[in-house]
Order: sequence, then structure tokens, then C-alpha cells
Amino acid sequence: MDRSKLKGLILSGGKGTRMRPLTYTSAKQLIPVANKPVLFFGIEAMVEAGIEEIAIIVSPETGSEIRSAAGDGSQFGAKITYIDQDQPRGLAHAVLIAEPVIGDCPFVMYLGDNLLQHGIKPLVDEFKQLDCNCEILLTRVSNPSQFGVAELDSEGRVHRLTEKPKEPKSDLALVGVYMFDKNIFRAVREIKPSWRNELEITDAIQWLVDQKLTVHPHVVKGWWKDTGKIEDMLEANRTVLDTFERDLRGETDTTSSVEGKVVVEEGARIIDSVIRGPVIIGANARIEQAFIGPYTSVGSNCVISHAEIENSIVLENSAISHVEGRIEASLIGRNVKIGRTKRKPVAYRFNLGDNSEVGIL
Ligand code: TTP
Repeated sequence: MDRSKLKGLILSGGKGTRMRPLTYTSAKQLIPVANKPVLFFGIEAMVEAGIEEIAIIVSPETGSEIRSAAGDGSQFGAKITYIDQDQPRGLAHAVLIAEPVIGDCPFVMYLGDNLLQHGIKPLVDEFKQLDCNCEILLTRVSNPSQFGVAELDSEGRVHRLTEKPKEPKSDLALVGVYMFDKNIFRAVREIKPSWRNELEITDAIQWLVDQKLTVHPHVVKGWWKDTGKIEDMLEANRTVLDTFERDLRGETDTTSSVEGKVVVEEGARIIDSVIRGPVIIGANARIEQAFIGPYTSVGSNCVISHAEIENSIVLENSAISHVEGRIEASLIGRNVKIGRTKRKPVAYRFNLGDNSEVGIL
């Protein structure tokens, strides 16, 4: 099989229940890490690995939003097509419905909410060289029962894969990147839905193992993040911000102090404030008499005044003003307003969506 050209399949459907309430109104994969949608990290990693044809699985709820963000792929130097999945019927179901687009071509499957430090180029190069039918990525975790888990035999070959085992026999969890040849399409047609009524990719890969097809395990070095939950998102944000170089393009006045690895994008204004990196301030944001502490990403057009915030992500067009005490470990959506009012009676007034969480002093 010609392995010189691989195609890409990115899974960007799903429900994102663990990221509610943001995922009621927006796709999880478009939540930004260091001001860039998580999905774009995956697309860029594919392009860097020489993959030009990418198919993206989308859901009915967020398909149009993903389509308008990633477009036809030209902004990334790729050709992107979209595949509609009517419901999140499992990762292997996504493979099943992708066959007409992928055809006979070997391909990389990438979960659209995952981030890998070194991208995927070395892995794609390895897969091209090895004569295997599938390559899976594994990483050691302390909580394997929350993942798909692989058991290797004494010679390091994949022996058994189990989805979220209650009593895990290994701490090697599957990372959200897989490489397949066309045999996976046979596998996904053979397997049956699991107890949670999904077609599991672990069952499909187990089918390959049982057919004596070769499944190469690659233990990942460097960090890998699954941004399924808010804490993961904040951790991914910290990790990516740490790789940034200082770059001040907006305006900073003389009474402000901008310390360390700070990116200030075009049109942003820092007025009488302290910015302590790693931090990114998005385009046209205004920071006034505020403290923006380490590991914070502030989206474009935000206003933060008379407030302190650190270790947080604030999405576009939000405003935070006159908050006493520091905001910490927070994920704040788009168009949010947090502030003080002079209305009587003096009281907290909330207008929060379902599943919002507020912690007060
Ligand atoms: P998950 O994080 O396992 O599922 P989810 O996005 O529905 O989140 P939650 O568990 O919080 O409800 O999915 C991993 C990635 O794969 C994610 O980008 C969504 C995508 N996906 C699909 O595109 N189709 C599917 O059928 C499933 C299960 C996931």
C-alpha cells in the first residue's frame, strides 16, 4: 500500500457534556487554549506531518460553527471536507461513516479535543516506515479506569484493549491519535455496540489484534492533553503558554509593568496594570488598573478593569470589572459580564445558564 500520502480524520462531533455550560452554545473543540481553538492545534499538527486532505466529523449541533471556523482548510494549507454524524455513536462509528471519503488510503485519526506537545510528524513518519496495519499511541496514567487501556505481552506486542476497565491490568492509556490502514473499515463493520451503545475503537483495534493483523504500540514521550474537562483545559493552557516567547504588539503605558513571557496582540491596550507572564492578551482587549497573573489567556475584545485574575481562560468579548479578590482557575465564556452595580438593594445578582458554577468569597 502506498504510504507516501496519508489522509487525516479529525473527530469534532460529540456532546462535550463535561464542559457544560460552554458546550450548550459552542463546540468543545472551539474553546481556545492560549487564544487558539483546540481543533486548530490538531489541524496544524496534521499539515505539519504532510497531510493535506482532512475530513472532520461534526455533529448536527455544532457542525455549522466548526465549518465556519475551519472553512475549506485553505487557511491551514489543507483541503478540509466535513462528515455529518447524526449522534455520537462512538469513535469507531466515526470511522465507519468516513470510509467513503477516506477510501483505501491509510489515515491518521485524531480526537479534536486532544493536544500533543511534539505534534504528530514523528509518529506519521514511523507509521509510514513500519509495515504495520495500525499504530496506537499510549501514555502512562495514574487513573487508567477513565481511559481505553492497552495490555502488552512480554515482547511488547498489543495483547488486549479494554475501554474504561473497572480493574485495569495496565496503566497504559490510549492517547487520542491512531493510524490505520484500510483493514480498520472491516473491523468497524464486524464489531457490535458496547454496553453504552457506542461502537468502541478499542473493540475495533482488538478485532485487528484477534485477526493477527499488526498493531504497533508507541509510548508517547512529552506531554499529551485531553481537554475534555475544565481542569484539563486550564492545564493545556498553562502548558502552551509556557512555550510562548515575549511579543508585545499592542500598547502598554508607562505606569504598567509587563513581566516575563507575555504576548499582547494588535490593538490591545494595557493601562496602569501589572501583567505577569506567561499570559496572552487578545487583539483589541483593554486591561485597566488590573492584575493579569501567570497562565492566563484573555480573548480578543475583552475588557478587564479594577480586577485581578490568574490561571484562567477568558473567551472573546467578555468584561470583568470592579471585582474584589482574585479570580482564579476559571473558564469564562464569550460575552460574559462580571461586575459591580450600584442598584439597590446591595446584593449579588446572577444570570447564569444551566450547569454554571460560581464560587464566592
Ligand atoms: P469524548 O470526549 O469521548 O466525548 P464528548 O466530546 O461527547 O465529551 P463528553 O464525554 O464530555 O460528553 O470524544 C472525544 C472526541 O471525539 C471529541 O472531540 C468528540 C469526538 N467524538 C465524535 O466526533 N463522535 C463520537 O461519536 C464521539 C463519541 C466523540
